Amino acid sequence: MSKAFKIIVASTKGGVGKTVIAVNLAVALSLAGYRTLLFETDGVNSGISYHLGNVDEESSLRLYKPSGLYYAPASVSESRRVDDRVLELEALLKNAQYDFVVIDTPPADKSIFAMKSDAGLVIVNPDEQSCAAGIITKDLIESSGSKCNVMLNRGFEKPYALSAKEIEEMFGSPLIASIEEEKELYKSLLDHVPNYLTDNARRFNEQIEKVARIYAAMVDEDYANKFDNSKEAVSKAKAEVKKLHA
Ligand SMILES: Nc1ncnc2c1ncn2[C@@H]1O[C@H](COP(=O)(O)OP(=O)(O)O)[C@@H](O)[C@H]1O
Ligand SMILES: [Mg+2]
Repeated sequence: MSKAFKIIVASTKGGVGKTVIAVNLAVALSLAGYRTLLFETDGVNSGISYHLGNVDEESSLRLYKPSGLYYAPASVSESRRVDDRVLELEALLKNAQYDFVVIDTPPADKSIFAMKSDAGLVIVNPDEQSCAAGIITKDLIESSGSKCNVMLNRGFEKPYALSAKEIEEMFGSPLIASIEEEKELYKSLLDHVPNYLTDNARRFNEQIEKVARIYAAMVDEDYANKFDNSKEAVSKAKAEVKKLHA
């Protein structure tokens, strides 16, 4: 692979799970052996450092050692503007090659969607408001020429929630994956360990791996072997995290 495959994790609505999904998707790709950069454009609600447990370090490009993931938090950027973050990403991509770039985006700032990406991952919850935001987001990403998939997060049973089928009808396309409301995710946040490296919320991890495999399949014929062989890397990373937090 020569050029980085850019995935924009997006919704114009906040709180739907963009950051938690971006972080864990990037961790999953890095553990499968892909050189991955997690890039944060949300300078106002900067959050990825909390997930990765590295809030004090000042460098703009960091390595999350347990999984070998590169990440660039927005909190250390001089500017809070998304346009400036896009320029900073371009500079990083000139300096090093990556297989994947996972881009975590802010809500309520549409300028990021003008950036050309290889895939948009729109996150929705099972309510009308987040689906309406999802439809707007999907249109914006697609109008910049990028392909887009929709993923349900925080799904729960009726009577108060939209079902996966109802959401698919609203979008006119199948959901790429679907995650339930998982209280255990809060344990990962509290511990500052990405959920993918814990035994919390297993169904969440399964769905993250499913999405990671779908993207890997788009760029790498050998992706299935890489994920099958990554079990050892995952165990090692889990052990390393335990040591770090002991
Ligand atoms: N499936 C889920 N189950 C339970 N809590 C979740 C789930 N997805 C996200 N959350 C929680 O919801 C909050 C908002 O998620 P976040 O990823 O920060 O949203 P966004 O980046 O879209 O604003 C976080 O505290 C996160 O841990
Ligand atoms: Mg966020």
